[in-house]
Amino acid sequence: MSVNSVRENDRVYERFQLIVNGPALFNAVVTALELDVFKLLSDHPGSDFDSIRESTRVPAHQLRVLLHALCSTELVDKRDGGYTNSSVAQELLAGDGPDSWRHILLGWQKIYYPAFAQMTPALRAGTNTALATHPGDEPTLYQRLAHDPELEKVLHASMGAFTLQSVPGLLDNADLSTVRHLLDVGGGDGTTAKQLVELHPNLRVTVFDMPSVTEIAGSDVPEALAGRLALHPGDLFADAFPQDADAILFSHLLEVFSEEQIRRLLAKAYDALPSGGRIFLYGFDAADQERRGTFAARLSLYLNVLATGQGMAYPAGDYANWLERTGFSGVETYTDLPYDHALVTGTKK
Ligand SMILES: C[S@@+](CC[C@H](N)C(=O)[O-])C[C@H]1O[C@@H](n2cnc3c(N)ncnc32)[C@H](O)[C@@H]1O
Repeated sequence: MSVNSVRENDRVYERFQLIVNGPALFNAVVTALELDVFKLLSDHPGSDFDSIRESTRVPAHQLRVLLHALCSTELVDKRDGGYTNSSVAQELLAGDGPDSWRHILLGWQKIYYPAFAQMTPALRAGTNTALATHPGDEPTLYQRLAHDPELEKVLHASMGAFTLQSVPGLLDNADLSTVRHLLDVGGGDGTTAKQLVELHPNLRVTVFDMPSVTEIAGSDVPEALAGRLALHPGDLFADAFPQDADAILFSHLLEVFSEEQIRRLLAKAYDALPSGGRIFLYGFDAADQERRGTFAARLSLYLNVLATGQGMAYPAGDYANWLERTGFSGVETYTDLPYDHALVTGTKK
């Protein structure tokens, strides 16, 4: 039996081939997004080569190369001379709404993936050495992007779109029926806050984030929600949490920090809440990290190489343990949510 025939049906070998060709194919997909190829094939399924060329204005030879790459991913299918989106491309890549993978992938290409070339020195050094390419002397990417408003918008459009993809795990499981005022710490561009106030007509949400980010959050609040969405610019370590919330949410936030910083933030949340106040921790979960979780694994690498130089997709059990050690009771954990996510909740006695 030849080596090739052994590997023919080997799932790991199939994954290996995709991984090693991934950087090139990933960039081909982003180029297709930038040239609006998926949108064209959505509006005109079965478009032929000449009409794609006319629409994209890419020279014939280079377009042939790009279309070959897209067909090799199976995101685009060529049949009888016409090109069509696969159902995955149609669902995830053809639109350009705020939840589109277009924004996610553009952010990964422009910010995350260039940094991964620095992975070995960053992991060896034990800090986010890839941050050196971003102007400023602050220790995290979030702080440095305040010097580069255009790139900061790209990051928040990317995080916001990913949050819209993954937020149903929070909306479906977090019981906010008794909550009047929720503080969303590190609430980013307000994507989660807007979803929450839309879903809960009696809820007010305050987004606490850095000033350059709350400015983005405040730039497109629908009028109908404006009275129930407040902004609190500041530094979540240096500045006090507002004291009038009866619940606190950390969404995709704690994973960016070390255990010591997380425990400081949980203690700060405990002090800011009234008796009976609720806490909600939502984000990536590395529950079974030796066996699965490509989203969680990618996120952990990004955090260590570029964003903060620490943190990871901690197992949900760690959060439950830290909540209990902070003094929260009735701790509940919801795991196996989409995109390797988990929700951990508790109550201040
Ligand atoms: C990974 S994003 C999560 C955004 C949002 N919660 C979500 O689920 O999409 C982390 C957020 O924490 C904010 N952040 C990081 N360090 C901060 C600090 N020291 N003070 C205030 N906000 C901070 C960043 O600006 C960013 O919006």
